[in-house]
Amino acid sequence: ADLPAFANEPFTDFTLPGNKAAMEGAIAAFKSKLGRHIPLTIGGRRTLTEERIVSINPGKTDEIVGYVAKATREHAEEAMSAALEAFESWKRVGVEERADLLLRAAALMRSRKHAFSAAMVVEAGKNWSEADADTAEAIDFLGFYAREMLRLSEANALRPLVRTPGENNRIEYLPLGVGVVVPPWNFPLAICAGMTAAAIVCGNTVVLKPSSLTPVVAYEFYSLLEEVGLPPGVVNFLPGSGADIGDYLTAHPRTRFVSFTGSKEVGLRINKLAAETAEDQRWIKRVIAEMGGKDGVVVDETADLDAAASAIVAGAFGFQGQKCSAGSRAIVVEQVYDEIVGKIAAAIGKLTIGLPETNAQIGPVADRRAYDKILDYIDVGRAEGRLIAGGGKAEGNGYYIEPTAFADVAPQARIMQEEIFGPVLAIAKAKDYKEAIEIFNDTEYGLTGSFFSKDEDRIAYALEEMFCGNLYVNRKCTGALVGVHPFGGFNMSGTDSKAGGYDYLLLFAQAKLTSRRR
Ligand code: SER
Repeated sequence: ADLPAFANEPFTDFTLPGNKAAMEGAIAAFKSKLGRHIPLTIGGRRTLTEERIVSINPGKTDEIVGYVAKATREHAEEAMSAALEAFESWKRVGVEERADLLLRAAALMRSRKHAFSAAMVVEAGKNWSEADADTAEAIDFLGFYAREMLRLSEANALRPLVRTPGENNRIEYLPLGVGVVVPPWNFPLAICAGMTAAAIVCGNTVVLKPSSLTPVVAYEFYSLLEEVGLPPGVVNFLPGSGADIGDYLTAHPRTRFVSFTGSKEVGLRINKLAAETAEDQRWIKRVIAEMGGKDGVVVDETADLDAAASAIVAGAFGFQGQKCSAGSRAIVVEQVYDEIVGKIAAAIGKLTIGLPETNAQIGPVADRRAYDKILDYIDVGRAEGRLIAGGGKAEGNGYYIEPTAFADVAPQARIMQEEIFGPVLAIAKAKDYKEAIEIFNDTEYGLTGSFFSKDEDRIAYALEEMFCGNLYVNRKCTGALVGVHPFGGFNMSGTDSKAGGYDYLLLFAQAKLTSRRR
């Protein structure tokens, strides 16, 4: 009853010496635990396995962050049983108690903020601000979904059903069952916490398969949940291969839903596998899939060009462009095209590249596979556009790539159409704002977009015509805030689940109507 209204967790100002020292201390503390052995956890029981996932620091590849247990199908089966068993009691636990678990987790995470951020600096290659924003978003998801669950439980008072004489009618939101939760590596704390918290606060139980690139961060989150009183089996922590246990769990007849964030390829595979009905399966599995993007920024000739160029650079290169929201395209009208291209090149030239723990602006990309793929795309770009910045590998004992931009790219070019998920920006010229918006819409994705203009009529046109789940005007296309910018995309970007919004929890619940006469 005396729960304060939701407010976003503030970002840390690392120019303040105290904050800087605290972050340095947290990084040193995390690094003193390098090479730890991380167990899988089923029904609260920890198990180490012979076969392991080796998690390394992408910015310093000879540094091993952790040796992580690798689950087999037998473990997956055990985790499913543990989750099914826990569901029978967890679904009966009161809404307040479930919400309170999330609130305690949020409070504890807030008190150890920099420890979580430090883990992401080292395991995911985030710079300090990116890591800090990730931790803040995780705290936000926990606090927001706790309050959302409480609000849903009051649905009958908040949104009363139409009354009919002689009947008492009520709506109740019930959990679905066991969910398989598969979060990505690029927001290894925030999205992992958000997806898991939403599922369990609704009364579901979970098999959590973290990304094999960031299992240590995920384990820190799992351990935090245990520390604040998560009952055994409500979340089962199951690192392992997606192709093996991911497929197995998705196809499992007892899986009630799959909540996935990651690539289009994997999302579509999950959707297909989940659509097959096993013989003794009693439901249609629900799939919540948040996938890729080929997001972009449109700039017209009335725009504040400095603001537009800096938004383009921030959106394209924040966390090395490894966000589904990354603005990997810029579409600029011809009157201001050369000027914007010049500003973009100049701004890229000022970005510092280096080890994330030193807080360089640009760090490494995720792993060898991403590194090779992005470098291949840079080669493709050389044939498809005019290189204006970057163009190859960068120095360092890790997967460092220069922030790279190509101008004069045709709308149908591969680097304008395919998600690269790295620090590569394609810039296209349009004859006017309408053509620019047409080019923007010419993609199979539809996640985020930005429109830069000072003209009210054109802004109105853009608000109506730009087809994407999160459309921003005169600001960058990344950095959605929980509760402020519910997040999710159209078309091949996924099921538009709007994480951090008022519609999200409904995806993890089923409504039961009861109608009672005397
Ligand atoms: N929510 C993030 C953003 O807006 C992406 O996942 O940048």
